Amino acid sequence: MTRIVIVSNRVGPLSDEGKAGGLAVGLADALRKRGGIWFGWSGEQTPEGIDGPAHVEDGPVKLVTVDFSEEDADEFYSGFANQTLWPILHYRVNLANFERRFETGYDRVNKRMAAKLMPMLESGDTVWIHDYHYLTLGQAIRQGGFEGPIGFFLHTPFPAPEIFAALPNARRLGRSMLEYNVIGFQTERDRRNFRRFVLDELGGTTEDGELLDVDGNHVRTGVFPIGIDAERFAEFAVSSEAQRRERQVRNLIRECQQIIGVDRLDYTKGIPERFHGFERFLEQHPESRGRIFLLQVAPVSRGNVDAYSDLRSEMESLAGRINGEHGGLDWAPIRILTRGFARKSLAGIYRSSRMALVTPLRDGMNLVAKEYVAAQNPDDPGVLILSRFAGAAAELTEALIVNPHDDEDVSGAIQKAFHMPLGERQERWNALNAKVRKTTAESWAANFLDVLDQIHRDENTARRA
Ligand code: ADP
Ligand code: F6P
Repeated sequence: MTRIVIVSNRVGPLSDEGKAGGLAVGLADALRKRGGIWFGWSGEQTPEGIDGPAHVEDGPVKLVTVDFSEEDADEFYSGFANQTLWPILHYRVNLANFERRFETGYDRVNKRMAAKLMPMLESGDTVWIHDYHYLTLGQAIRQGGFEGPIGFFLHTPFPAPEIFAALPNARRLGRSMLEYNVIGFQTERDRRNFRRFVLDELGGTTEDGELLDVDGNHVRTGVFPIGIDAERFAEFAVSSEAQRRERQVRNLIRECQQIIGVDRLDYTKGIPERFHGFERFLEQHPESRGRIFLLQVAPVSRGNVDAYSDLRSEMESLAGRINGEHGGLDWAPIRILTRGFARKSLAGIYRSSRMALVTPLRDGMNLVAKEYVAAQNPDDPGVLILSRFAGAAAELTEALIVNPHDDEDVSGAIQKAFHMPLGERQERWNALNAKVRKTTAESWAANFLDVLDQIHRDENTARRA
């Protein structure tokens, strides 16, 4: 087996403490079983930044991280990655900031991270780059002389080409991505959008819809939906820590039912829209007041970007208004927690919740949906309410699928879940659980890496012939 070198913005941790972010959770699950190097940002800022010494944590998975300078953190991470690309990838052109210094910072960090990585690479390595922070890193590594396989996986959606084309450097970014041997997407819709972009905007061609060619440069595309280590998560859900949390919740809620929402505090997650849907439910079903409430766990994310701090104020004031208008002396309809939880505690919280509202406006996959399913008690499972705009909806079709923009639809799904008979809950859960257990983080990584190896071998054979 070749050595795998993973590059992503966030690295680890490989432990189970308080992680928030699908990429870190998915990769930790996949790498724990495979070993290799995982390279990225330490999350720290120092004056020397990337040029300073790397931090190395040895183990079966060697974690190698570097600091960023303040300028790099500002222009690359908070800037181009999270104020330009992130909103575009999630169809929010109105929120995108096209400051040119962000673009310069993005190019600079991609090139410097590639230069830092090059001396660590050995011939025979396979490089696997993740997410929108590093669209151009593969090109920089190729230009540095690395000849082995380089794959890329996009954890977010790839939007309709008309949206992606709003980026001033869309074509340059798109062309640089042709340097990868394989690009993986979460869903067929994302792959189709990327293909349309390459054909319409870059003048590319394709014969089979998967291999895209632009002036002799070609890249293979594939669909690889990411999963979780479901078996492990199900074990978490019956651990003593999870049981303690479950008891804690049940003592608190007594006869009440808990709806759970767990999301990084991000405008793509549809939290205010979810609150509106729940409010609609309370208005349409006054008899349910005092019998059900929504616990929203929303750890603060990217807090120094205005759109995120604005969202926090919006969420808090909306919950305050709904609680004030609909609450009673002994019952508040919405509770908010902005802290992180260890995985086992989170599993216990999922298990004590009668339903989960996973209603992003756009999401690459959404691992919370899969975790909620994995954590359920087979004898009395809860109901998953899932946005049609989450990548997970392509797979988890037995959930109650909703349009998160439509508060009537969300309200109707809550009512249906609230009264769903045990038999139907079990039937839906059995089907969902079988799917969640089938596509795991490990099988996701193995599928991608197998395709990457195969493509690279075929290309070498063709080159030699
Ligand atoms: P994203 O990648 O956009 O953050 P996902 O739903 O795919 O969205 O992944 C989020 C991950 O972060 C999940 O594994 C979830 O369990 C984890 N997470 C979210 N909130 C918390 C929290 N408060 N404490 C611990 N983990 C969290
Ligand atoms: O999966 C989407 C993603 O942006 C990951 O790339 C990222 O690690 C995670 O969400 C959390 O975001 P951040 O690293 O900016 O806190």
